[in-house]
Amino acid sequence: MKSKMKKEFLNFEGGLFSEVEKADVGDSYTKMAEAGVALMGWADPFMPDFSIPSHIMDKTIEAIKSPISSHYTAPTGNMELREVICSRFLEKYGVEIIPERNVIITPGSDSALFFAMFPFLQKDDEVIIPCPSYPNNMQNIKMMQATPVVYKLESNNDYQIEMESLEALVTDKTKMIVLTHPNNPTTTVYSKESLEAIRTIVLKYNLVLVCDQAFDDFTFENEYIAPMSLPDMFEHTITVCSISKGMGLSGYRVGYIIASDKIMDVMYGCAVSVVGATNTVSQIAAVEAFKHPEFMELFEKSYDYRRHQAYKILNNIPGVKLKLPESGFLAWVDVSELGDSSTICKRIVDEAKVAVNDGVNYGPGGEGHIRIVLGVYRDNEVVVEALEGMAQVLNKIALEKGIK
Ligand SMILES: Cc1ncc(COP(=O)(O)O)c(C=O)c1O
Repeated sequence: MKSKMKKEFLNFEGGLFSEVEKADVGDSYTKMAEAGVALMGWADPFMPDFSIPSHIMDKTIEAIKSPISSHYTAPTGNMELREVICSRFLEKYGVEIIPERNVIITPGSDSALFFAMFPFLQKDDEVIIPCPSYPNNMQNIKMMQATPVVYKLESNNDYQIEMESLEALVTDKTKMIVLTHPNNPTTTVYSKESLEAIRTIVLKYNLVLVCDQAFDDFTFENEYIAPMSLPDMFEHTITVCSISKGMGLSGYRVGYIIASDKIMDVMYGCAVSVVGATNTVSQIAAVEAFKHPEFMELFEKSYDYRRHQAYKILNNIPGVKLKLPESGFLAWVDVSELGDSSTICKRIVDEAKVAVNDGVNYGPGGEGHIRIVLGVYRDNEVVVEALEGMAQVLNKIALEKGIK
C-alpha cells in the first residue's frame, strides 16, 4: 500500500531523535525514559512532570461535568475563547481583530499551520523558508507538492534576515514566506529590520506570509513584533499561535489562526471539513488560562534561569558555542568543531543518558548543531544536572580531539 502514496509523503520516514523512528516515537520515548534517559528533545513544557495550574484543572473538571462537554463547538471555535484571544492581541500587539471574523480555533497549531498553507499552495509554487527552521513547516510545503526555497540564516548575522538576500530568492513562482517567529530551533526573535525586509518583499511581490508564533509568549531582551501588526501586513499575514508552549498546555491541543476577513471568508467555509471542531473541554479551560495567565510568570522565570545556566555550563567547553537563547525554552548549540552532530547526539545519549535533537533535522544550517529543550522537568536542578552530564561528555570529546 505504501507504493500508492504520493512520493512527497514517502520522504517523511524517520523522526526528530537520531535513534528513533517517527512511527515509533511513543514507544521509544517510554523505553528511553525507562532506561533512565533524560528526555530533552521534545518541546513539551515540564514534561513529564505535573505542571497544570490549579485554576485550570478546576475549570477542566467543571467543564467535564457540564452537559456541553460531550458536544461539538462551532467548527471555528468557542466564541468566548475567540474573544479572549482578540483581547490578548489588542493588548500585546495593538492589533484589533474581530472574534466573529478573524479567528479560528484549531486542535493545536500544527494542524493550524497545515490549514494556513493548504488553501494557497499547489504544485510548483515556491515558498521561502528561513532555515534552520521548525521541520514541520518545511514538510508541509513538500506535502502540498510546492517547493521550499531556503533562506539560509547565518549565525554570524545573529540568524537575522537581510533584504537583498531575501529578494534574490523571489521568482515568478514565489507565493509564500513561512516564518517561525520566534524561531525554533535558533530561538531568534526577528528584529525590526528583518521584519521590515520581509514586509517590503511581501508587499512588493504580493506574497502571503504564514507566521508561526507558537513561541511568542516568552521573549527576553529583544522586543517582539508581530508581522501582522506592521503597516498593510494584516491582509497578507496568516498568524498561527498555540497554548502549548507559553501556557504549558500542550496536551489540551488548542491552537488558533488569525487572518483577515477576506482569507477567513474561505477558511470559515472549509473549517467544518478541515478542522471539524476542537475539543470542547480544552477550549473552556483555555478561556480560563487566558483570563488568569499569572502562572506564566513563574514559567518564564524558570526558563530564564535555565537559559543562563545552559549558557554558563556549555560555553565553557572548548569547541562548543552557544548564544544566550532569545526566547522560550530551547538552546541551539554549535558543536561543529567537535565533529558531526549525529555522532555527538549518540554519544550524549549513550554516555550522559540525555536525549537531545540532532540539528540536521532542522534543515540547511542545522548541521553541526544540537537542540536542547531546557523547558522539560518541573525542577530546574534536574535540568542543570542533565546539562552538567552533557558537558562532561562534550569536554571528553574536546579532549579526544585535542581542542583546547
Ligand atoms: C515552532 C512550532 N510551531 C508549532 C508547533 C506545534 O505545536 P502545537 O501543535 O502543540 O500547538 C511546535 C511544536 O513543537 C513548534 O515548535
